[in-house]
Amino acid sequence: MSALEANQKANDLEAYWMPFTANRQFKANPRMVVGADGMFFKLSDGRDLMDGIAGLWCCNAGHNRPRIVEAIQKQAAELDYAPAFQMGHPKQFELASRLARMMPGDLNKVFFTNSGSESVETALKMAIAYHRARGEGHRTRLIGREKGYHGVNFGGMSVGGMPANRKMFGSLVNGVDHLRHTHGLEENRFSRGQPAHGAWLADDLERLCDLHDPSTIAAVIVEPLAGSAGVILPPKGYLERLREICDKHGILLIFDEVITAYGRLGTPFAANYFDVIPDITTTAKALANGVIPMGAVFVQDKIYDAFMQGPENMVEFFHGYTFSGNPMACAAALGTLDTYEEDGLLTRGSELASYWEDAVHSLKDLPNVIDLRNMGLIAGIELEGIPGAPTKRAFDAFLQAYDKGLLIRTTGDTIALSPPLIIEKSHIDFAFDTIRDILKTLD
Ligand SMILES: Cc1ncc(COP(=O)(O)O)c(C=O)c1O
Repeated sequence: MSALEANQKANDLEAYWMPFTANRQFKANPRMVVGADGMFFKLSDGRDLMDGIAGLWCCNAGHNRPRIVEAIQKQAAELDYAPAFQMGHPKQFELASRLARMMPGDLNKVFFTNSGSESVETALKMAIAYHRARGEGHRTRLIGREKGYHGVNFGGMSVGGMPANRKMFGSLVNGVDHLRHTHGLEENRFSRGQPAHGAWLADDLERLCDLHDPSTIAAVIVEPLAGSAGVILPPKGYLERLREICDKHGILLIFDEVITAYGRLGTPFAANYFDVIPDITTTAKALANGVIPMGAVFVQDKIYDAFMQGPENMVEFFHGYTFSGNPMACAAALGTLDTYEEDGLLTRGSELASYWEDAVHSLKDLPNVIDLRNMGLIAGIELEGIPGAPTKRAFDAFLQAYDKGLLIRTTGDTIALSPPLIIEKSHIDFAFDTIRDILKTLD
């Protein structure tokens, strides 16, 4: 092979099978990011692209933040890796203590993972094993919700409720059922913030308790605000009602906060925003600002305590990952928490929320806009699908936004926005002016 051929092969786009991507479309028209700073990506053609989605809902402090860069550089030179099992290093304990202090309620114990999907698997396994440890091994059933997204591993996919993510993969984990979703266009269209109607949908859990008997149910898992299915908000009173029913029947409530944790709603966690405390919370993404993969599962003391029995030299929970709490990720997360704290980012969303809300709802009368949803620094712009070509209209908007210098995300026919929390009003104006221009002319 000549040097030229070798070079061409190195730059060939064919070898890499891209995740959740239209591979053929991409490889025909690649969109390559080569740098990032603050609110912007740098593209291979030299253009700037404003990040309207914090990478993938993970770079909450924006890009290339000095504290995080320094923390990683220093850590790599000091301790690159420490065995995750039967050994520890100080930053794991420092990070877990700091996180536990941030989390409301008794969610004081923290287990580290490397992704949202792993956090979900960990939480589901903890829930089943917790009941078993308390002598209620009959509680094995897991309840998710239609339109829920809990990552791509078998447990998360099974409790998840996005048909496209499930249909290719067989019969999935059994012993799982689903609540009805809360996407109520008829009653709640164009609501500002939390929609008024639909708390009664939580009573669907009573229906599943009648069907399966509550004594068979280990846990209910929901996203407090569902992001991936198109920014679906919980109606007022819904999460409170779910909490009540779980308490009544001894069922654990798991909040999947993989996108809502770390300031997205203008509060540190969605649990603060809604004032509903779950038994287990899953997080990932913005924990280390998306710089290094990392997740954290928070559990109430009672759950951890239930495992702490038997001989002290025995492993109490047969679960964990080679990279659980690895030094590089812990350093990145500590640098991230410093940045969040110094810049006030965990509550910054609440200062900008009403400006953001007005900007979202300024799109109301544009063609094909059938709903607008907002909360904190999140927006969902739902478009009428083209008959016979679902997702095409939103994907066309994505491509046009990219050409105009704005990165958005689409799911189905909904455009989702979730910018870095360092966003300024001028960026908000740019994002919504750009989307307005696109929607005016989109087929
Ligand atoms: C609510 C929720 N749970 C889990 C996940 C999966 O996270 P990851 O892609 O890091 O595995 C996501 C990802 O978007 C998510 O939004």
